[in-house]
Amino acid sequence: MRLLVAGGAGFIGSTYVHRHLEENPTDEIVVLDKLTYAGRRENLEGVDAARLSLVEADIADATAVRDAIAGCDAVVNFAAESHVDRSITDPGAFIQTDVFGTYVLLEAARDAGIRHLQISTDEVYGSIEEGTFTERSPLDPSSPYSASKAGGDLIVSAFHHTYGTDALITRASNNFGPRQHPEKLIPLTILNALAGDEIPVYGDGMQVRNWLYAEDFAAAIDVVLERGEAGQVYNVGGPDEKPNIEVVKRILELTGRDESLITYVTDRLGHDRRYSLSAERTESLGWKAAVGFDEGIERTVAWYRDNEAWWGPIRSGEYREYYERQYGRKLGS
Ligand code: NAD
Ligand code: DAU
Repeated sequence: MRLLVAGGAGFIGSTYVHRHLEENPTDEIVVLDKLTYAGRRENLEGVDAARLSLVEADIADATAVRDAIAGCDAVVNFAAESHVDRSITDPGAFIQTDVFGTYVLLEAARDAGIRHLQISTDEVYGSIEEGTFTERSPLDPSSPYSASKAGGDLIVSAFHHTYGTDALITRASNNFGPRQHPEKLIPLTILNALAGDEIPVYGDGMQVRNWLYAEDFAAAIDVVLERGEAGQVYNVGGPDEKPNIEVVKRILELTGRDESLITYVTDRLGHDRRYSLSAERTESLGWKAAVGFDEGIERTVAWYRDNEAWWGPIRSGEYREYYERQYGRKLGS
């Protein structure tokens, strides 16, 4: 197999590339990535370079996509603007990449006659106070990010329905693990805690997220890619639901900091209260999560503790300006 992995230099995409090449010793991967602030060549260090090529390009660039897809047997599309807070201040980039970019990539997969697996999110279903979303739950996205992802999903489904394109979708819950950008809750909390800096918790901190270790999600993606039915959606929920404040407190324990670092800040606009996702359909294909929140968070804290060479340059670059805009205070002040 030769796979085109769009967005393979980001957090989950790179986790997938590492795992897939390790598990499939004769496969090759072409990563097509725009290398935005969230995508990094460093994320692909350590993979078998002879079986990996990196094309720096936009998924909305039809010519670059057509060139990169030549000779590939399937496409896995992770490429997206992925951060809800940034979508609230700059929605245009999300609509461009997550909707239009998805269409361009899908059109190329259709022309090539190959499978397109779209990596989507539980956020397309909106918030759920009680119970659990299934694949039959209606789409009800709340943020410009989740609305853009829902738009991408609808185009994927429409291509299957209209043209018979071999396309399918995974929708996963909140991922965590090594190499996640520090703008997201878990790495932000770990790095601020290590630095003895304040930890901004939105609203009352009682919003619930359904945590999935990224290695487990990477395994689920390969199961769906191999055994999933065209036109279907596969939800991939993590094994543990936690209120944000519990996640933050556990990280403080693991980093040896006390709770005085917790700072309650203005809530996110339109903040979804709870996500909860059943993984039953994906489990029926033979997948099961192997890493629970407790083990995953210990591994993740240890990774950030040991990998300052990875996050140091991020914490001293564009992220500092973003942090000041987002939180109204300088990082480390
Ligand atoms: P990320 O922000 O870490 O990575 C996104 C990658 O896409 C980066 O490498 C970036 O450079 C690339 N990219 C962005 N715009 C591009 C464009 N126009 N053309 C080519 N490449 C582009 O995101 P992530 O957290 O790894 O998420 C990956 C995918 O999984 C996204 O589609 C996201 O919606 C989905 N997802 C994420 C989570 C989560 O918890 N992080 C959960 C469910 C689904
Ligand atoms: O559910 C899947 C989604 O999970 C993915 O589709 C998104 O790409 C991914 O970014 C993630 O979205 P969230 O908004 O849930 O993740 P984030 O890490 O930004 O926030 C997690 C929770 O923590 C959320 O309730 C908001 C809260 N939070 C976040 C930040 C950055 C805080 O309280 N303080 C913060 O500073």
